[in-house]
Amino acid sequence: MEIEYLDPSNAKSYQSCLAKVYMQDVLDGCESVIAIGAKDSDLPCGCVFAKALDEIISIKNLFVLPFARRKGAASLLINELKSKARELGCAQIKFNAVTSKNNIDLLNKFLTKQGFSEIELLARIYKASSDRVLEEGKWTKRLLNSNFELPDKVTIFTKDEVDEELLAKLKNKEDTDYPDVLSPFKNEFDLQPEFSLFAVFDNKKIVGWFTALRTNDDRILYRSLFIDDMYRKSKLGLIMLAKAIKYHFDNCRSKGVLLAVDLDNTSVLNFYSSFFNNLCDSIKYEFSTNIEL
Ligand SMILES: CC(C)(COP(=O)(O)OP(=O)(O)OC[C@H]1O[C@@H](n2cnc3c(N)ncnc32)[C@H](O)[C@@H]1OP(=O)(O)O)[C@@H](O)C(=O)NCCC(=O)NCCS
Repeated sequence: MEIEYLDPSNAKSYQSCLAKVYMQDVLDGCESVIAIGAKDSDLPCGCVFAKALDEIISIKNLFVLPFARRKGAASLLINELKSKARELGCAQIKFNAVTSKNNIDLLNKFLTKQGFSEIELLARIYKASSDRVLEEGKWTKRLLNSNFELPDKVTIFTKDEVDEELLAKLKNKEDTDYPDVLSPFKNEFDLQPEFSLFAVFDNKKIVGWFTALRTNDDRILYRSLFIDDMYRKSKLGLIMLAKAIKYHFDNCRSKGVLLAVDLDNTSVLNFYSSFFNNLCDSIKYEFSTNIEL
């Protein structure tokens, strides 16, 4: 087993173990990228792709082809990444990505051996085609035909329409507390913003939001839905969901749907599972782990 750094001249031979978007970063020669490949008898068989930012190395992808597993490829890749991190003066390696539960179990067994913390599952991600959601989903039709009334003095705006000061207050959690994972400003995978809806009370306080990002493979990721405690039973969440579905219907009809639900949020999780369990093509999980060097 051998390892080598990827650059535009050798990267393409690793296309079976590196996602297209990351491959593009290597081909473009992005400065912050660290990509290392493993070869088994001269055959590319595994790859780790990471970015170095603010003295932290963030792994985005680690994958070894099934034929080459349990031969030490991933160990070599992670050891080299650790050496590189130290050389760059980075004190921490983080790993935050999305994959199936089975793969997370494999990664957990491997990474804990390498000294990483036990993997934490952050969110469940439903993947579905928009046709199925829009045409087969009984819930969708009911929602689109619903006539719920907004709570008193609450208006729904797009992000551009919301007062900058209110957004700044929300960012600093001045009036509203919310878990970081549900922040409307959070975008851990540097995705393109698609649209965001904000529910505002009397032009004074943001009391809910629903955000959507566009993924690198052109799907729409519904990233966070949050409703202030005071409005939890008011149908505000359903009204925002209906507006988002309408937006999808009008603007991104052909694009697949990814819906992320924070695993701590039991009520939203139950709501979405009743909606999506029969409609989705697959369920994946966002996870995170890290190691201090
Ligand atoms: C997890 C993964 C990277 C491990 O790669 P690998 O090259 O097989 O790992 P190594 O051979 O270096 O394993 C080192 C040690 O980790 C542990 N380990 C690795 N895979 C294991 C498994 N399936 N079960 C139990 N322990 C395991 C073992 O202790 C192993 O040492 P041993 O073989 O001497 O017992 C690989 O299974 C993989 O790519 N899985 C899919 C990951 C994925 O989905 N990535 C995409 C999202 S980022």
